[in-house]
Amino acid sequence: MKKYILVILLSILVFTCKKETKNNRQGLVTKHAMVVSAREEASKIGSVIMKQGGNAFDAMLATDLALAVAYPYAGNLGGGGFMVYRLENGEIGALDYREKAPLAASKNMYLDSLGNVIPNLSTRGALAVGVPGTVAGTFEAHKRFGKLPIETIMKPVIELAKKGVKVTQKQELRIAEKQEDFIIANKEPILFSRAWKENDTIKYNNLAETLTRIMKNGPDEFYKGKTARILAKHIQENGGIITEEDLASYKPKWRKPITFTYDDLNIISMSPPSSGGICLAQIMKMIEPYDLHELGHNSEKAIQIITEAERRAYADRSFYLGDPDFVNIPQEQLITNSYLQDRMKDFSFEKATKSEALAHGKVEIIESNETTHYSIVDAFGNAVAVTTTLNSGFGSKLFCEELGFFLNNEMDDFSSKPGVPNVYGLVGAEANSILPQKRMLSSMTPTIIEKNGKLHMVVGSPGGSTIITSVMQTILNVHEYNSSMQEAVNLPRFHHQWLPDEIRMEPYSFSSKMIHNLEQKGYLINEKDSPIIGKVDAILVLEDGSLEGGADRRGDDEASGF
Ligand code: GLY
Repeated sequence: MKKYILVILLSILVFTCKKETKNNRQGLVTKHAMVVSAREEASKIGSVIMKQGGNAFDAMLATDLALAVAYPYAGNLGGGGFMVYRLENGEIGALDYREKAPLAASKNMYLDSLGNVIPNLSTRGALAVGVPGTVAGTFEAHKRFGKLPIETIMKPVIELAKKGVKVTQKQELRIAEKQEDFIIANKEPILFSRAWKENDTIKYNNLAETLTRIMKNGPDEFYKGKTARILAKHIQENGGIITEEDLASYKPKWRKPITFTYDDLNIISMSPPSSGGICLAQIMKMIEPYDLHELGHNSEKAIQIITEAERRAYADRSFYLGDPDFVNIPQEQLITNSYLQDRMKDFSFEKATKSEALAHGKVEIIESNETTHYSIVDAFGNAVAVTTTLNSGFGSKLFCEELGFFLNNEMDDFSSKPGVPNVYGLVGAEANSILPQKRMLSSMTPTIIEKNGKLHMVVGSPGGSTIITSVMQTILNVHEYNSSMQEAVNLPRFHHQWLPDEIRMEPYSFSSKMIHNLEQKGYLINEKDSPIIGKVDAILVLEDGSLEGGADRRGDDEASGF
């Protein structure tokens, strides 16, 4: 009998970590701390660091570097990102470690002699690479707020790189579909130039060596040391323009986040050079006057209201937003109630607004792209929301074999030519034109939400231009429709970004009757091009103070905690 009771107690112990409610709608629930990221290995390392007494910033460094090992599709040393934080005492802030244009970059560098955009130049190969910010940014966050020594944090990551990481089914497909790009972007075969299969283990020995040097010498190793020399040489040998001087002069920047209210929520999100916070604020303030709860989740009218707000916000994004160190952004005006209500004045339930009526532009269908987000809450009550990216999946596809990592293609997030769409179909203007050392405009939206003065939610997503709308729908699912965190992440999503003038919908998720009704009102529906919209990783603080993770079913994402 005793043995029987022991088994039951053990089972309870095991399952308290993966608590499912009766209706099976809840994600992982833990009492003290949690990491939700794109890979189980990374979430676990972040969580273990916190179990050893580390805080959210220690876990950030660990998770970020572990993603560079376990999730090379978007996790990175060769990219950049943004972090929004909220300390246990309520202090908030943001860190910008976005890539920069190299010193030798110029406005028309991707145009031919006739002024036309040269295909693929800003998206594939060495010329597409922006000066990476990830190592500087993650170390800067640790320097300011971290508790544990760098070695304690990095050792498990280096061990993971040496031991290797199992290929998942999704990774197998991603690696297979990029083989041609790998050949074009690299002179020699790379670690990924073979048909890796599900359950194969990829060992990252060269990356482990790079990480070991960074552990010993700090971020200067990446920006001024042996790593910097190898990196600059490799990029130049492949036709790029990044120099050792570019690397040596890279600095991350602390920024003031965007804050705004929606009902009783206080929302804290990323400021420029990300468009995420301003765009999120604009959309949410435009929809706030409507009773979305009453209208129903993904109902025809709710979709219309959200779509029309998105259309207007993305039109503003295109014109006004860029790197605040180079352009003046009318930040306050763009998110005031009076301005936003005026923007929605001509909205009617009867018929779609045409994007041409807001601005002009012809654009192509876009491919799906990647970035990665992770959310962390520690046992002290600190929270970080971090979105980091190589831009497209595997970035520029340029891989530095000697150092063991991919380089970003973030230069494509600049507007190469006003009115011509980038890889996300986003159309830009002068505010986001290329200048040396300027940061390209982003859509990354790492976001933290307070309710009644307390931490409520940590949320973010990859997905290029769809990041903002994915984050917003996840917030609305919890706030307006009482979803659990996991359910809020799981629910089907849609997206409108002004141009192209269409509502993208996740396929098989919206009724054909509703789609027909929307089409009758003049909306163009596209269910083809975005089988996935966003890949949200989020944490919700429950009533009793415990944490619920929402790890997106669309990827291999996992929550881990204690
Ligand atoms: N590269 C994607 C973004 O920054 O929005």
